[in-house]
Parts: sequence; C-alpha cells; structure tokens
Amino acid sequence: MEATHIPVLADEVMSMLAPAPGSLQIDATLGGGGHTERILEATDPDGRLLGLDADGAAIARVESRLRPRFGDRLVLRQANFRQLATIAREAGFEAVDGALFDLGLSSDQLADTDRGFGFRAGGPLDMRFDTRRGVPASELLAALDVNELTALFRRYGEEPKAGRIARAIVDARRTAPIASAEELAALIERVLPPNPRQPRRTHPATRVFQALRIAVNEELDALEAGLAAALDLLRPGGRLVVLSYHSLEDRIVKRFLAAERRGCVCPPEIPVCVCGRNPRLRLLTRPSLTPTAEEIAANPRARSARMRAAERLAA
Ligand SMILES: C[S@@+](CC[C@H](N)C(=O)[O-])C[C@H]1O[C@@H](n2cnc3c(N)ncnc32)[C@H](O)[C@@H]1O
Repeated sequence: MEATHIPVLADEVMSMLAPAPGSLQIDATLGGGGHTERILEATDPDGRLLGLDADGAAIARVESRLRPRFGDRLVLRQANFRQLATIAREAGFEAVDGALFDLGLSSDQLADTDRGFGFRAGGPLDMRFDTRRGVPASELLAALDVNELTALFRRYGEEPKAGRIARAIVDARRTAPIASAEELAALIERVLPPNPRQPRRTHPATRVFQALRIAVNEELDALEAGLAAALDLLRPGGRLVVLSYHSLEDRIVKRFLAAERRGCVCPPEIPVCVCGRNPRLRLLTRPSLTPTAEEIAANPRARSARMRAAERLAA
C-alpha cells in the first residue's frame, strides 16, 4: 500500500516544527504519512509521534508503510482531530513539542474512485473522511431543498452561481437520484458551460465539491476545535503548524492565531483589560508562507497551500 500523496511545503514544515530527537509530536492529519515520516526521521532515535486521521484507509496505509521502520515511536489512532484533547491524553501525549495540521484531502483519497472526492469518480458520492459516521454527500443532495442547497454552496463553496446549480440538482433528481461524483460534475458542467472569453483555471464543479465535503465532514467546526485542543497540548516553546487550502479554512486559522497572539478579548472601548487573558502564541510566519513556483510545477496540488506557524508562549 504505497502512498501517492506528496507532502506539501515539507522543508518549510520541518523548519517551522524544528522537531528534535526525543521530542513528542502530533500529526493531526496523517494522510499518506509524508510529513510524519520526515518528523520521525528528524526525531531519531527516541522521538515519538501521535498520528491521527479520520480515514481508516490512511491509518492502514501508514501502518503498513511506516510501522516496520519506526516501531513504537509511531502511535496511530483513527479519529477526528476534533477529539484531539481526549485522544492525546489517553495516548500519553499531554505536553507536546509540535503539532501539525495539513488540512483537506490527500491524493490517495482523490484517486480512490469509491470515495466520491474526485470529479471522475464513478463510485458512490460519499465524501466522508470517516465512512463510519455521518451521512454521505449523495444523501444531502437528495434531502436538501433548493434554498438549503443554495445556502450550502454559497456558504462553504463561495459559489456565485449557487442558486442555478441548486435548481438544476433539484430538477435532475426528480428523474433519478444523483448517485456518483461523475454525474454531479457532469450536471454542473452542463449548467455552467465554458465561456470562450473567460477560460477556466479550475473545473466548474470545484466549489460545489468543496462545499459538500466541508458540510459532510463538518470540517470548519472540527478545525476550530482541533486548533484549540492542540494549543492546550503544546508546552512552552512548542510549535503549531497549519497548512490550509482554501480561504474558509485559512480565515479560521488566521483568526485563531491572531486572537491567541493578542490574548486580551476585552472590547476596544474598555480602557483597561478586565479579561486577564495573556497572549499564548508568538507568530512565526507573518503573514503566511506559500509554495515556490518550482514546488507547484512538481506538485500541482500544492498550488493553493498556505502555511501559518506559531510558537507557544509560557502563559
Ligand atoms: C492533505 S492530507 C494530509 C497529507 C499528509 N500530511 C502527508 O504528508 O501525506 C489530509 C488528511 O487529513 C485527514 N483529515 C481531514 N480532516 C480531518 C479531521 N477533522 N480529523 C482527522 N483527519 C482529518 C484526511 O482524511 C486526509 O487523510
């Protein structure tokens, strides 16, 4: 079970995490284990890493690929990172030196046509990272009315043609349910035909697919909970590194880091602080870091990546 996912901004992640031998690290989004592998190499001989992924296939892949090399230095859990606080405590990772979140989906998930993440996936339109929980995207498409679908595509996809796409979905499902990713992508292509004066840089279904994936996995709520948990787990001097791939994710990361850097949450009209909250983070990337043209040429999936990193203060 070889991973096809190429880790994004791998050198930059390593220089921000600066993982030392003997340290405790968390990879909240294992994927193909590319970053995890680099971290375990850098923390040789006795550093330990707790790796989470909501997707059982990712855990199985990393287990077979990395366990033989790293043994019990690698601790794996199939879990959503929204449960990071509990999982880390139970696994003995309570005061850690680094935590990495590399958000979104992996190339391995995209390539698996049974998961429904890719436009050409002929299998069921599922899109769940963890297929043991929640409802597949096909059920959302079948159950939501025009207004709900429109709101979903706007909110999580920032899709300007949300209403038109939602109406086409509701029309189409009167004849037959939209069962596969391929059918949904083809329907959106019909609704939004190419405009010769405005050549497209991405597939016209990109925003709708993003919206459905976010909704099905409750990704934005999970991100807020995961970041808060990771910060609580970091020891002073510990590093938090987050890679995001679209503006909704990045906005949450940016606001979280800014609030923890500021500390005080008193309204600006109050002359003296009454909340008593101290800054808990120092920003290491200001404003943020993106891949070089060379990296994007070698790995086009890196093109939308944005990295933010911060260091835990003693507060
Ligand atoms: C971009 S990939 C990570 C790739 C990895 N850094 C590597 O180098 O191979 C993102 C992974 O995070 C997982 N994931 C996304 N949201 C998650 C969540 N809330 N909890 C746990 N895993 C999540 C996905 O299942 C996917 O495998």
